[in-house]
Amino acid sequence: MQTKKLSTNIEDLERAGAIIRDGGLVAFPTETVYGLGADALNEEAVRSVYAAKGRPSDNPMIVHIADARELEPLVRGGRAAISEDTLKVIGTFWPGPLTLVLPKSDIIPDATTGGLDTVAIRMPSNETAYRLILAAGRPIAAPSANLSGKPSPTNAEDVLEDMDGRIDAVVMGEACDVGIESTVLDMTGDVPVVLRPGIITREWLSAVIGKEVRYDKSLLEEPSEIADPKDGVAETDFKPKSPGMKYKHYSPNAQVTLIEGNEDEFRSKATAFGMEARKKNQKIAVIDYGDDVRKAAHNLFADLRELDRLGYDIILIRTLEQSGLGFSVMNRMLKSAGYDVIK
Ligand code: TXA
Ligand code: MG
Repeated sequence: MQTKKLSTNIEDLERAGAIIRDGGLVAFPTETVYGLGADALNEEAVRSVYAAKGRPSDNPMIVHIADARELEPLVRGGRAAISEDTLKVIGTFWPGPLTLVLPKSDIIPDATTGGLDTVAIRMPSNETAYRLILAAGRPIAAPSANLSGKPSPTNAEDVLEDMDGRIDAVVMGEACDVGIESTVLDMTGDVPVVLRPGIITREWLSAVIGKEVRYDKSLLEEPSEIADPKDGVAETDFKPKSPGMKYKHYSPNAQVTLIEGNEDEFRSKATAFGMEARKKNQKIAVIDYGDDVRKAAHNLFADLRELDRLGYDIILIRTLEQSGLGFSVMNRMLKSAGYDVIK
């Protein structure tokens, strides 16, 4: 398959919208990471997304909408079923990098939600994403536009690296502003639960809703078992709340190791580590984002991919303080390192 490179001008976004209406796959920028879009209401189109990503088919997708009025038909029970708390977070954070898990209506095929009776929905703030959803004229289901297991792509070149020849088109937009995926918030229970941390933090959500917001248990403990999607693990008895969290994630080819400590401690531990590795002729990269968590979020995935292209064997990254956005970025760092941390 020849993958078309489309620009962000009106004519090209109309073309991209038509491809999606016809059941094709188009990668596009959002404010978080690039998405791999398909018609969310077309079962066959959605199934082809899993194939393009090499992703197990029980992994549910996020449905992207352009306007809050598109929400009601996607939610079981419609307007009446949308709680005051949900309206508050929508009012504050949409459009933006917040995904809400709500009861799913029947118009959404099971393939989109991996058979769950809930659906994850978000309204991106990125203008190109907004115009593409309007051009398609329907909600767009989109996981991150990477091969399963790889870091999410945050620029068009990184999308092409994984997807060239596997999808119909890429909208060649700008680099993503945030750099890590949206916060996923489960609104189906009595207490809102963060299933995936992002730039909209638990503390911030809590302040807006005016009640406690919890982290899902899986975010606070190291998983006992991490499945590698390349092993073809699709069905297991283990059904965590956010199914995307059970697979190996964000892994570059290089081995990633995290190192704790202040600047000096980090440098001396990294040097010691480096001496050992050099004996084995391994090429080592060292990343220290300092306390700039915004920059860490923005650069992490792009840096991992760039260092892979440059042929590094080992990437050493200084840990961040685990509060606010730092917690969210550390969630990605820990996964990419397979929880390998030098204390
Ligand atoms: O920022 C983002 O969210 C990006 C851009 C493209 O919008 N998309 C993204 O999609 O990160 P993906 O498929 O890579 O991650 C979706 C996450 C997974 O952790 C998945 O398990 C969770 O959302 N999710 C989706 N539907 C769910 C549901 N019904 N219940 C619980 N978790 C769900
Ligand atoms: Mg992803």
